[in-house]
Amino acid sequence: MSKDIVAAPFVQEMMKVTANLYRLGWDERNGGNISYLLREEEVGAYLNPNQVIRTIPMIFDATELAGRYFIVTGSGKYFKNVIDAPDVNLGIIRVADTGKSVELLWGFKDGGVPTSELPAHFMSHIERLKIDSDHRIIMHNHATNIIAMTFTHSLEEREFTRTLWQMCTECIVVFPEGVGILPWMVPGTDAIGMATAAKMREFRLVIWPHHGIFGAGSTMDEVFGLIETAEKAAEVYTLVQAQGGAQQTITDQQLQDLADAFCVTAKSGYLQVGVK
Ligand code: 13P
Ligand code: ZN
Repeated sequence: MSKDIVAAPFVQEMMKVTANLYRLGWDERNGGNISYLLREEEVGAYLNPNQVIRTIPMIFDATELAGRYFIVTGSGKYFKNVIDAPDVNLGIIRVADTGKSVELLWGFKDGGVPTSELPAHFMSHIERLKIDSDHRIIMHNHATNIIAMTFTHSLEEREFTRTLWQMCTECIVVFPEGVGILPWMVPGTDAIGMATAAKMREFRLVIWPHHGIFGAGSTMDEVFGLIETAEKAAEVYTLVQAQGGAQQTITDQQLQDLADAFCVTAKSGYLQVGVK
């Protein structure tokens, strides 16, 4: 219990990924947030779970996560600063038994609180855990080309997904279920939290038009890789449009061949392929 928690693998992962995301330009100022579900024994190896530093109220009910531990980024905290001051910019919290507050066990040393997007994170964790027992991470960031695409492309989920799939051969393999898209909404609210979580029943990637993207996954690499792949496709789309538009693309049959070759199931009705 006397081990230095900054050396803990999950703290190191948060420090490294936030620095990486900042370097990529997807987390300007305090943009973006991450929450990472931790096992009690992971936390217990470094902290006394009975030593609660302070209790932080929440605006929504997270009873379904009562007793669960998370490491989360702080509200208003800059990703660029996490690597140098993890104990100020990150916090380890446990959801109280009432589901109406979180108990701070480490971090947020300057009196900080968890991300303002905690409703979207917690509600998404609840939904993803129902369908994926390995689920652990929700990541939100302001991926540049994805945001840009929400101004120039149809926001219809099938159309948007198909364009991303067509931009890079890997896309349909990485996110065969496609991407969910919300209408524009005010961030940090219960309402956007509920809408995001509802999409998370079907998708691991959810786009907030003119704002950013949410990803869900069981490891940091998986969730980062998901967002990175969608953002790369959006970047290629940006370049293709700048070069005057596509003259040819990956056909629906080729997308189907990819899905078959990599043993994934493309979202039903998204590809138009003849009966074999
Ligand atoms: P926080 O600083 O509260 O995490 O908010 C950043 C953000 O990206 C809001 O959508
Ligand atoms: Zn944001």
